[in-house]
Amino acid sequence: MGAIPFDQRDGFIWVDGKMLPWKDANVHFLTHGLHYGSCVFEGIRAYNGKPFKLTEHNARLHKSAGILGMKIDYSVEQLDQICRDVMAANKLTDAYLRPAAWRGSELMGIASSEAPAHVAVACWEWGKYFPPELLEKGISLTQSRWVKPDPRSAPTESKAAGLYMIGTLAKNEAAAAGYTDALMLDWRGYVAESSGANLFMVKDNVLYTPIPDCFLNGITRQTVIALAKEAAIKLVEKHIQLDELMGADEVFLTGTAAELTPVGKIDGRDYTVGPITRQLHKMYEDAVNA
Ligand SMILES: Cc1ncc(COP(=O)(O)O)c(C=O)c1O
Repeated sequence: MGAIPFDQRDGFIWVDGKMLPWKDANVHFLTHGLHYGSCVFEGIRAYNGKPFKLTEHNARLHKSAGILGMKIDYSVEQLDQICRDVMAANKLTDAYLRPAAWRGSELMGIASSEAPAHVAVACWEWGKYFPPELLEKGISLTQSRWVKPDPRSAPTESKAAGLYMIGTLAKNEAAAAGYTDALMLDWRGYVAESSGANLFMVKDNVLYTPIPDCFLNGITRQTVIALAKEAAIKLVEKHIQLDELMGADEVFLTGTAAELTPVGKIDGRDYTVGPITRQLHKMYEDAVNA
C-alpha cells in the first residue's frame, strides 16, 4: 500500500487566517494559481522544535510573491508565528513546513486580480529526501535534456510553483532512466543544479558552486557557503562547465529538503564521498540541530 494521499491525512492546516481541520483545506477548481501558475511557496525543515532559517524562508516567500506581482497581507513576522502555530497544532517538532501564497478565484484569465494573495501553511513529518542508504555512497545524477531558463523568460529568482514543471519533467525522466535525480544545465550550457537542490563541487581542495543567476540562490547554499568560510575552505562562485564537473574530486547537493547530500555518480563518472563533503555535512547537521 502506498503512502496516505496528502488530502486525506489528519491534522490542521492554516488557511487565510484560520486553523482548519486538514481535510477542509481545499481550493476551488477555478483558482488562478492552478490554471496559470500564480503560486509561490516555501519548504522549511524544523529540527527539535526549531524551524531552521524560518525568517529567511518567509522573507523569500514575500520576495517570490512580489516578483509575481502578488501581495501577501501577512508580515514576515506574522508568517513566522503562523508556522510555529501550525507545528504546535499538529504536535510536531521535527517537520517539514510548507507555506504558500496563490491567486484565487477572484478572476480567471491571464490578467490577474489585484486582490491580496491567499496564504496557507501546512506541515508534516518528512524523513530524508533521498533514500538514507544512498547517503553513504552518494546519489546518482544524469544530465537532463531540460535546462534552467534564461531569466528573461521566467522569474527564476522566485520560488514559483510554475517553474517546478521543468524540475518535475527532469526528475521523472532521470528516475525512469534509473538515476536518483537530474543534473540540470542552464540555458547557456553551464552546470546549474539538480531538480530541487543546488550543487557544489570540490577540486584540489577548493569548493566551487555555480553563480545562481538563473536558478534559486538556496538558503541552504548560503548556509553552506558561510560554513565553508568558517572552516577556512576556499570557495569560488563561477560559471562551471560540464567537463569541470566531470573532472571534480567531490560533488554534493544542498537544499532544505535534500539537506547536504553527496553525489556518487554522474552518468558514467563515479565520485567518492570525500573529506570536504564529510566535513561540511557534519557542520550542517550541527547547525540545524543547534
Ligand atoms: C530548484 C531548487 N533549487 C534549489 C533549492 C534549494 O533551496 P533552499 O536551500 O533554499 O531550500 C530548492 C529547494 O527549495 C529548489 O527547489
